[in-house]
Amino acid sequence: MSSPPAINNNNNEKFVQYLNEALAMENAAAERIRSRADETPIEQAKQQLQYHLEQTIQQQNRLKGAISKMGGQPTSSKATLPAFQPMNAPMSVAEQELVRTKEDAIIENAEVTSYKMLMQMAEKAGLKEIVPALQESLQEEVAMVNFISANAPLVLTKLWQELGMYDAAGASFPSYKQQQQKSQDSSVSMAS
Ligand SMILES: [Fe+2]
Repeated sequence: MSSPPAINNNNNEKFVQYLNEALAMENAAAERIRSRADETPIEQAKQQLQYHLEQTIQQQNRLKGAISKMGGQPTSSKATLPAFQPMNAPMSVAEQELVRTKEDAIIENAEVTSYKMLMQMAEKAGLKEIVPALQESLQEEVAMVNFISANAPLVLTKLWQELGMYDAAGASFPSYKQQQQKSQDSSVSMAS
C-alpha cells in the first residue's frame, strides 16, 4: 500500500512539474529561435536571435539543474508556443516576417511572465535556493523583449517597400501646415 505524499514534499513535487513546464517551453523556444535565426532577412535580428539561442540553451540547463537537484526528471518534450494568427492570408514574405516578429515578442513576453511567476512561487513555497537561477533567466528574457521593441522601427524600415507601403511621413505634415496657412490667409482677407 503506497502512503500519501508528505505535505512538505508536495511543494517540491508540484514545483518540479512547473519547472518542467518552463523547460518544455524553452525546448520549443530553442527550436523556434534556431529556425527564426535562419529565416529572418534582418541582419540585426538574426544576430540577436543567435545570441538568444545561446542564452536559451543556458536557460534549459538552469531548469534541468534545478529539476535534477529536486529529484525530478527533466522533460525533453516541447510545449506548444503561443502563435499569432493574422486574418489576411496568403501573406508576402515581408508580411510573414512581421507576423513572426510579433510572435517573437509574444513568446518572449510569455517567458518573462512565466519566470516571474516561478520566482514568486519559489519564494512562497520556501524554495529560495532556486530563485537566483530563475532571476538570471528572467533578465535575459526581459533583455530580449526590449531588443524586439527597440528593433521594430528598423524592421519596418527594412520591410516598408516590400510591404507595398508608401512613406507619407514627410508629405502629410507640410500639407497639414499648408492647409492651416490657407485658412489663416482667408480669415485675414475677410477681416480687411
Ligand atoms: Fe527567451
